[in-house]
Amino acid sequence: MEITTAPADVDLTDATLVVGFMSDNVPVPGAEAEAASVDSALVELAEFEGKTGQVLAIPHATAKALILVGLGDEATFESIRAAMGNAVRAVKTERAVTNLNQIPVDDATRAVVEGAALGGYQYRSYKTEGEALSIATLELMDADEAEIARASAAAEATNLARDWVNTPALDKAPDALAEMIRGAAEEVGVVVEIWDEARISEEKLGALLGVAAGSDRPPRLVILEYQPDDATAHLGLVGKGITFDTGGLSIKTAAFMEEMKDDMSGAAVVSAATIAIARLGLPIRVTAVAPLTDNAVGGNATRPGDVLRPVAGPTIEVLNTDAEGRLVLADGLGIVRRYEPDLIVDVATLTGAARVALGDRIAAVFGSDSDVAASVLEAASRAGEEFWELPLFHDYKKSIESEIADLKNISASRYGGAITAAVLLAQYAGDGRWAHLDIAGPARWRETAGEQVKGASGVGVRTLVELARSLSAAS
Ligand code: BES
Ligand code: MN
Ligand code: ZN
Repeated sequence: MEITTAPADVDLTDATLVVGFMSDNVPVPGAEAEAASVDSALVELAEFEGKTGQVLAIPHATAKALILVGLGDEATFESIRAAMGNAVRAVKTERAVTNLNQIPVDDATRAVVEGAALGGYQYRSYKTEGEALSIATLELMDADEAEIARASAAAEATNLARDWVNTPALDKAPDALAEMIRGAAEEVGVVVEIWDEARISEEKLGALLGVAAGSDRPPRLVILEYQPDDATAHLGLVGKGITFDTGGLSIKTAAFMEEMKDDMSGAAVVSAATIAIARLGLPIRVTAVAPLTDNAVGGNATRPGDVLRPVAGPTIEVLNTDAEGRLVLADGLGIVRRYEPDLIVDVATLTGAARVALGDRIAAVFGSDSDVAASVLEAASRAGEEFWELPLFHDYKKSIESEIADLKNISASRYGGAITAAVLLAQYAGDGRWAHLDIAGPARWRETAGEQVKGASGVGVRTLVELARSLSAAS
């Protein structure tokens, strides 16, 4: 979908016009004229009341059709974004025009762009009947071109991450996924380095190799570097890139394995965010590291009780091969630290426990100090993504001390699993500023509503872009 600006007196002859209504069919500011012209009998018949999620297509005097969308009780950034998402899925047209961006709400243009771009997302690569996008061009009346471009870059990067995550594991072996990332990153001038198995071995990334040992598909480590001349800060990113998580020898049950192609969401999110930051030309240096591997079952698979040696930091006894994310992240953190960034953020579908704690809609954030967590929460709030802080409670480190190695990869207690995982990562993150984002809950939307479409969510991309924006502005 192409999103552009149009003059306020745009010609509507062949266009579909999208206008907003609030509860009890109160028109949003700017929709009063359309409200006066609609056939109220038709609206009543269809039981359209301006409620959240409601969409109604009716004839219009000038335009090809009029689409009424419900914003619910209040016009807010969120309700505009959701309404636009609902609207784009309800129509199939060459040209749609809207004035929802003119509602006097902060960032209304961004809300419309995100609603349209995210809500109109479709993953159809494996459908034999190719279906065209529902709207070819969306025109925002009297919108700021630069604002549209800014919002589009972040929304499109989110959709790029969703494409990678939605891809079946069969078609995203570590080498293939690394090449997909390379292709997209090089397009925007990001420098890409890909380590193959021999290099990973040479560099002694023992934890990544330990996880990869059970698979016939060799691992990769992707390093993305965006280094503009005017950089004022340096952000280091690490993303968990498990291309499929069977659990390894501590194998998952069928139901828990079903969605495990999602387990490279962290890698997809940090890569797509780096690409968006480069496309936007933000004055910040970004180094992103993505360890990519299957967690599979094979004759050479790491066994419970085996001890792995990450590239730096404590040795780890693997007591449960299904707690593999923290292993590959230990190596990822070790590599990104070599670049000495001012702040490291890792992103991972790390623990079922984070999902138990916060549910399917909210991601967990841990910070090396409350300041770091606060800056992630602020960025998330500006981005319109849901995050909640969980404590990095260092006392729990006792529960991951091993009898024979420095650490073990699971705690004796099954409670507080998201926290013990974060505390383990802290042993590899160094003494500097670091945040850990556990997106195991919201990496996938479970239903289609508003700007959300069932399937991969790309959650984290827009928060990282906002974080980069604030870091570059602050220094
Ligand atoms: N990839 C999973 C976590 C996960 C669970 C992501 C559900 C998305 C949805 C991770 O590798 C895992 O298996 N974690 C285990 C850790 C346990 C063995 C300590 C878990 O959470 O059950
Ligand atoms: Mn696992
Ligand atoms: Zn996993």
